[in-house]
Amino acid sequence: MKITHFSAECYPIAKVGGLADVVGSLPKYQNSKTISSEVIMPFYDIEFTKKNKFNVLFESTIQLGFSTFKYRILTPKLKKLGFTIYLVDIPDLLFKNYVYSENDTERFLAFQIVALDWILTWETKPDIVHCHDHHVGLIPFMMTQCVRYDSLKMIPTVLTIHNAQYQGWFTHEKVNLIPAFNFKNVGLLDWDGSINPLAAAIKCAWRVTTVSPSYMNELIYSANGLEMLLNHESEKCIGVLNGIDTDVWNSETDTYLIKQYKTTSVQSGKKINKKYLCEQFKLEVTKPLFIFIGRLVGEKGADLLPEVFEETLLKNDISILLLGSGSKAVEQKLENLKTKFKGKYNSYIGYNEKLAHIMYAGADFLLMPSRVEPCGLNQLYALKYGTIPVVRSIGGLKDTVIDISKVGGIGIVHEEVNVKDITNAIDRALELYKNQDEFKKVRKRGMQKDYSWEVSANSYINIYNSLKD
Ligand code: GLC
Repeated sequence: MKITHFSAECYPIAKVGGLADVVGSLPKYQNSKTISSEVIMPFYDIEFTKKNKFNVLFESTIQLGFSTFKYRILTPKLKKLGFTIYLVDIPDLLFKNYVYSENDTERFLAFQIVALDWILTWETKPDIVHCHDHHVGLIPFMMTQCVRYDSLKMIPTVLTIHNAQYQGWFTHEKVNLIPAFNFKNVGLLDWDGSINPLAAAIKCAWRVTTVSPSYMNELIYSANGLEMLLNHESEKCIGVLNGIDTDVWNSETDTYLIKQYKTTSVQSGKKINKKYLCEQFKLEVTKPLFIFIGRLVGEKGADLLPEVFEETLLKNDISILLLGSGSKAVEQKLENLKTKFKGKYNSYIGYNEKLAHIMYAGADFLLMPSRVEPCGLNQLYALKYGTIPVVRSIGGLKDTVIDISKVGGIGIVHEEVNVKDITNAIDRALELYKNQDEFKKVRKRGMQKDYSWEVSANSYINIYNSLKD
């Protein structure tokens, strides 16, 4: 069975968030004697494309509205990814030094059209087309509705929603950019007066998955306007928990770490990583270290962090280190804390993969006070590296972190996203830290949890098989 994934991001080629980690690992775990899983993504002007060499597989042009664009299909010469990857190079549209911008309609529409045009030329067509998020949400529509893709009509499509907050809306004025289709079906593209690629994918894909079972249930009540649609389509929807790539996230082999460690050497291993972090960021190594890694946006509860940090640092003897970027207002407030709490609080505003790995390894606790968290991978990385997650009970966090008050507890869970609940959770974490025997037991249990892809990769295979019957 040949599975073709479509995505705007894929680690290690281009990463903005967790989507890249999933698309960069799931195919590897799906590949087997009977399954070949591959990825098609855009070719951006970024580090990976600068540093690697590519073979050109195909060249042609597309018409988008009144404009004609040249394109090429490339594949990297490097073979160690564990799956085949094809990159769509449309120099005038996609080849930018970023993945996303304010207006990406033409960019991602052209990407989807080119990818399907190219598939039309394949001798062996995919058995399943698997689309990730709204950037490739028009593919299920085009495959079933556009005259040009009539020969792809019978290929089952799967949509995975990694984040329903973003839907890729554009106005009906741009409908002519989409290859010809029977206009009486234009309603399939529409939701609430605009063209909505995520809604179109939910309507047209054969199956819809989300990245955790709890997020699936939550979407029916809260999906940034798509609640009714998801409710209506709920029979074809299912939540499948993400896994993590244990080749990349393994404290025994992680080459980013200052010191690698096993479950049995966790205490000494983490200490060396913590010492490095505390030296780099001028924090005291003897205090419990809390970290936050993520985008500084409302979804992640980041707007509350300045107040939470201020309150907790005034009363507790702890260190906090933050890695992330986003809202300028939040960044500014956090910057002010650096002077006020010198030696107790520090941050790296931006994204740094190596630093993220060392932080998971060196920290004692990870904070994730998310308002929305479809799955969340950071808590899974933290658990694997012996860092205890302090999370809000939502989406994938709810499905993966058991509170320490329960049997088999591996983290601290709070119900609401407000300053009081988050600071209370930090207080509970500190109580646990004071009881080092219990702290070590919780940490060990977390490290032993298996959140690898083994189980979930199979759930997807079962979904694919059910569509082929
Ligand atoms: C998105 C979600 C995150 C999820 C990731 C991978 O980034 O916000 O919760 O883990 O996608 O599916």
